[in-house]
Amino acid sequence: MPAGGVGERAEQRAALARLAHERAIDSRVGDWLAACEQDATLTADPLAPQAVNLREIRWTYDRAVKLPASLVEETARHTGAARHAWAAARKHDDFASFAPLLARHVELARQRADCWGWASGGEAWDALAEDYEPDCPARVIEAVFTPLRQRLVELVGRFLEIPGRPAANPAAGIPIDPTAQVGMLREIAAAIGFDFSKGRLDTAAHPFSGSIHPTDVRITTRFDEGNVLEPLSGTLHEAGHGMYTQGQPLEHDHTPMGDAVSLAIHESQSRTWENFVGRSPAFWRWCLPILKGHLGASVAHLSERDVLWATNHVQPTFIRVEADEVTYNLHIMVRFEIERALIGGDLSVDDLPGAWNEKYRDVLGLDVPDDRRGCLQDVHWSSGAFGYFPTYTLGTLYAAQFFEAALHAIPDLHDQFAAGQFTGLCEWQRQHIHSQGKRYRSPQLCEAVTGHALSSEPLVRHLESRLDMLASLG
Ligand code: CO
Repeated sequence: MPAGGVGERAEQRAALARLAHERAIDSRVGDWLAACEQDATLTADPLAPQAVNLREIRWTYDRAVKLPASLVEETARHTGAARHAWAAARKHDDFASFAPLLARHVELARQRADCWGWASGGEAWDALAEDYEPDCPARVIEAVFTPLRQRLVELVGRFLEIPGRPAANPAAGIPIDPTAQVGMLREIAAAIGFDFSKGRLDTAAHPFSGSIHPTDVRITTRFDEGNVLEPLSGTLHEAGHGMYTQGQPLEHDHTPMGDAVSLAIHESQSRTWENFVGRSPAFWRWCLPILKGHLGASVAHLSERDVLWATNHVQPTFIRVEADEVTYNLHIMVRFEIERALIGGDLSVDDLPGAWNEKYRDVLGLDVPDDRRGCLQDVHWSSGAFGYFPTYTLGTLYAAQFFEAALHAIPDLHDQFAAGQFTGLCEWQRQHIHSQGKRYRSPQLCEAVTGHALSSEPLVRHLESRLDMLASLG
């Protein structure tokens, strides 16, 4: 879209948001819900599809009716302007030009939170986060993140000191051939279970997964100069999202029972393939010959040791989306603390860059050189999306806990990976997660699948085993 179209696009967004909101809060929807709730046959079993649908449609309706149409419209209109201002501010490293628009987003977010309300003992941030991760208030996240943060900081230090650790990533600097890469990525995505009769893989400026329908899933990848393995990691991630969508139960199409649980559960499915499969020695036993078959002379010199160091190379950096498996979660914790303070009124927008840089020094030991590589790097806040960031780390924690459960059920999972067999894991995900739709909210799904509440212990165990694996490479 040309820059000149920004104003009109914002008006279009505002109009669509208002129309959609008016339909969502139509009083007849409330009447229909009340009538269904009178019918005991629909609610007798709370985990039966009709009861689940009633529960979720009621939740969505109750949230929508609390918002005035004017606020919905204003938020949509402001998002159009703010995203444009953010993109320009990031390009020119000019936080001051974006600050007033971000401050307005914080005000609008507080107004939405006031309309929705929050549980006693909670805070405004909780109400906003419900849009992304229901039933996961800030104090619950804090209780998981606080002990994990210290352990991750310690783990980063231990990763940096592994004897034999190459100073540079062994896959850095290898030139990328996009045509050969796409062929390889399609072969690997198909091998792990991404169904190309119901999906596509293309190149785009940003890696993403667009889930139009379980029968039409579009994933993209991009090629950055610098790391020949990065597109594969990104594709395993997006294919994991795509496989979740492809596995949703078609018999419950267009209802909550046919939909994903939450952003964190979606992310758990992508992180499983990206981190727990794609960085494992067993996976690379199978994948390295495929890599060499497609990419030829440029990667002929890479050994299994090289690719394991490359895919598990831990190094504190400024940019979240380029971060490794260990430091990634520290990037998220910084954002969670900052947005919580912004919404709670403990931090003003003008003080955001300073607070950001201080936390990066504390947590990652880095001096952020400019806001482009600091607080302007992510798009989320320019959309008013406060409460989104923690879902990335929650997803990783769920992935770790689910993967332990899968390994318990299928003890030879790694042998299967080494032989290029991925249906065991994919079918396990299908049965326990994909086909369940929204039957459970995420905390209950975690209990149902693993027998335990969410904990950071499985992730820490996983990272410690990675550390031992790298140390054994020498
Ligand atoms: Co993702």
